[in-house]
Amino acid sequence: MFLTDDEKRMLDGGQGKVKQASMEYIVNYAEALGAERLCKVTKAQLFCGNHIYLDAIQEDSVEKLIAIMHFATEEPLEFDNDTACFSQFCSLRMDLHQWQAIGFTSHEARRNQAFLDIYRKAGIHMVGICASYLTGFLPIKGEHYVCTESHAIIYINSLWGGCCNADGIAAAFCSAMCGRTAYWGNHVPKQRKANMLVHVECPVETLYDWDSLGFALGKQCPANTIPALWVKNRETLDTDRLRSAFASMATTGGVELCHILGVTPEANDLAMAFGDRKAAREICITEKDISQVREFLCDAYRGDVDYIHLGCPHYSLEQIAAVARFLHGRKIKESVTLHIWTAPAIKFLADENGFTRIIHEAGGQLLTGSCALVSGKLPAGVRTIAFDAAKQANPQQSHFKGTVLYGSLHKCLNAAVTGKWGV
Ligand code: F3S
Repeated sequence: MFLTDDEKRMLDGGQGKVKQASMEYIVNYAEALGAERLCKVTKAQLFCGNHIYLDAIQEDSVEKLIAIMHFATEEPLEFDNDTACFSQFCSLRMDLHQWQAIGFTSHEARRNQAFLDIYRKAGIHMVGICASYLTGFLPIKGEHYVCTESHAIIYINSLWGGCCNADGIAAAFCSAMCGRTAYWGNHVPKQRKANMLVHVECPVETLYDWDSLGFALGKQCPANTIPALWVKNRETLDTDRLRSAFASMATTGGVELCHILGVTPEANDLAMAFGDRKAAREICITEKDISQVREFLCDAYRGDVDYIHLGCPHYSLEQIAAVARFLHGRKIKESVTLHIWTAPAIKFLADENGFTRIIHEAGGQLLTGSCALVSGKLPAGVRTIAFDAAKQANPQQSHFKGTVLYGSLHKCLNAAVTGKWGV
């Protein structure tokens, strides 16, 4: 594989041990993929903290655990502002200030902080959002970035033409340290062409519709599928709907880039979206597909609800404002816990605009940085949980012993206030 002089120097250890170990990882990764060269990475969104996947190894030392998980060695590396590009935290294991709200202990909070301190020492910035594009992480067309959040990969690849593959946690970390990734897959313009044509034949209007649509479409998309969507009523489309669709699409399929004809920059029309490629498949998404998603994700149930979880992907200020508008002057049923997840920076704006106070006065809580899925936590004792996002409802359908519900934001908020679902 071709390496520049600078890359060779990193590989030889001329720029320190962290860069050398990272470059070794990326060169091995690129060779395994069959890439002929590397490309420079300008931004990195990285999964940092004491996340659940680390439980795979019994190891008390935080430094050792990071060395094993990122570099497959038990020799801890000494970090010191090593990042080679702007790097920030993706979603976190817990809200850094309200960790008790979802049942973490002070010991767990301290251990999480110990991980974050090491990552900060390496030069990664505290942001704590999965929806990084909401707080300024905006690679432009042709810019190469790395990212550990599946929906943000689809969103930025598709909406702005930023270039990213779903490399995984360790590869993304090493890319951030050496500033390189494999020039392969979505980094190569001609590999970004669509290979499946999708006719969305049913009306998709609400965010709930787009969320269900993404889940239905993902099921038909094995790895390396790049769908081009033809949508009848795309005037209802907006950024919040799209990111919900991409989040649920990433849950069920292997999509990393999704063109929407007439909307996304690499798909003004069919010819532009497909280039020289032919559509390997052509499918239709109908109302039946959407209904099946809803039947699968929402148990047939009418009765009491214990827990409502909103904010997957992390809510935008606009979505929090809508929740505050609904809750203004209302009270959440005492038996119900309502959690709304967003980013620390967006919560600051929600605080400034009085939305946090309204939600709090109604009995709800605005939390930051994480979610039920990433924290692995639900409030103690809950038996009936409701989500407005397929990405959250889907794993709970197989893990949670009680009732799992999936519905629109309005239905979830009504349930929060009445304490009832479907009644
Ligand atoms: Fe974000 Fe958690 Fe959903 S990290 S995309 S809110 S699963």
